[in-house]
Amino acid sequence: MKDIDTKCVQSGYAPANGEARLLPIYQSTTYKYDTPEEMGDLFDLKKDGYFYTRLANPTVAGLENRIAALDGGVGAVGCASGMAASTLAVLNVCHAGDNIVSSATIYGGTYNLFSTTLPKVGIETRFVEPFDKAEDIEKVIDENTKVLFCETIANPAMYVADFEKWAKIAKKHGILLFVDNTLATPVICRPIEHGANVVIYSTTKYMDGHGAALGGMVVDGGNFDFAASDRYKDFVTPDESYHGMVYARDCGKAAFSVKLRVQYMRDIGAQMAPMNAFLTFLGVDTLHLRMPRHSENALKVAQLLEQSPYVEWVKYGGLESDVNYPLVQKYFDKGMASGMVTFGIKGGREAASKFQKALRLFKIVTHIADARSCVLHPASTTHRQLSDSDLASCGISDNLIRLSVGIESAADIVEDVKNALEASAK
Ligand SMILES: Cc1ncc(COP(=O)(O)O)c(C=O)c1O
Repeated sequence: MKDIDTKCVQSGYAPANGEARLLPIYQSTTYKYDTPEEMGDLFDLKKDGYFYTRLANPTVAGLENRIAALDGGVGAVGCASGMAASTLAVLNVCHAGDNIVSSATIYGGTYNLFSTTLPKVGIETRFVEPFDKAEDIEKVIDENTKVLFCETIANPAMYVADFEKWAKIAKKHGILLFVDNTLATPVICRPIEHGANVVIYSTTKYMDGHGAALGGMVVDGGNFDFAASDRYKDFVTPDESYHGMVYARDCGKAAFSVKLRVQYMRDIGAQMAPMNAFLTFLGVDTLHLRMPRHSENALKVAQLLEQSPYVEWVKYGGLESDVNYPLVQKYFDKGMASGMVTFGIKGGREAASKFQKALRLFKIVTHIADARSCVLHPASTTHRQLSDSDLASCGISDNLIRLSVGIESAADIVEDVKNALEASAK
């Protein structure tokens, strides 16, 4: 199974003779064994199997295996949400006193986690700008830096990560590179191929694609040498809370994901629900069909916006005039640039409000990456907790409108946006 289109449909679950063709929903917290020794072997990780759904569940495992296969990872851990995935991935390597170096233009919830919540437990974030030069990013790295973090396509600022730059810095300093690939999905971009070590998803978005199931995923690239320096002591010293396991020695390439599961998922319990894993698994069946359609439709909307007298600026990496266009050509498959388009409407907050009210197909929701087109004005909704200066550092202005272009007919979508733009100026 080489092609991503086939992997979307076939990977993650292979029924044995007479078993259900579709991945079943294992709606069970527990699993039965005939002898205590058999269960003991599972606790010791001597054998693969299930004993409690907080650690692992066969339906969630189906989705984990599928997404790991799509990304070229060695394993993955399903989490309750995208936020749970980012939190657990960071906690898996950071202690109080450690720091993360992150792009400042990231999803507002992750920005808040990094800027406000993690510092309360002693984990600091040093924010850098997406177009900062490598030398400038390197200046904020020290011996306690454990993670470099960026988004493939920043939500909602739309900057595309320059993987070559990030991976070079990560390699030079022996630091893990985490990439949130939510808006691109592995159909458009596979960050591990460009040097990422850990890939994070809100599966709530395109992976599910129907606004049905909350979820997150941490994919382990299996391509990091934890023993190469003293930076990641937890991976090379015994974990007394797990039978003295030394993750880098005992878990092979999957050290990161095994540690995350048996330590942090065990202790924090932000596990993906089996029903949500099932719905997301169904969603991924059509991911390779939806992403090209989202991208084609979004390009048409971006072209309309670029020509419109009611629009100040447009950001869409698929537009030749966009600053991110060269990165889209370099890193994204077939020039696809996803379904997210942001633009600045002339007339500020008032015009933004009129525009949203005039839309018919696009619905106002705090959701993106759905089969159905949707719209949001971040400054008055998702990002309203951020101060003006935090908003600016996330790349958000008060006239920014975020369109998540769906897979309806391009003609209907374009007409809806055109009419609403006209209404915004009345
Ligand atoms: C890029 C990105 N990462 C993470 C998240 C958080 O995901 P969730 O809402 O599933 O917790 C979001 C949510 O919008 C997102 O857009």
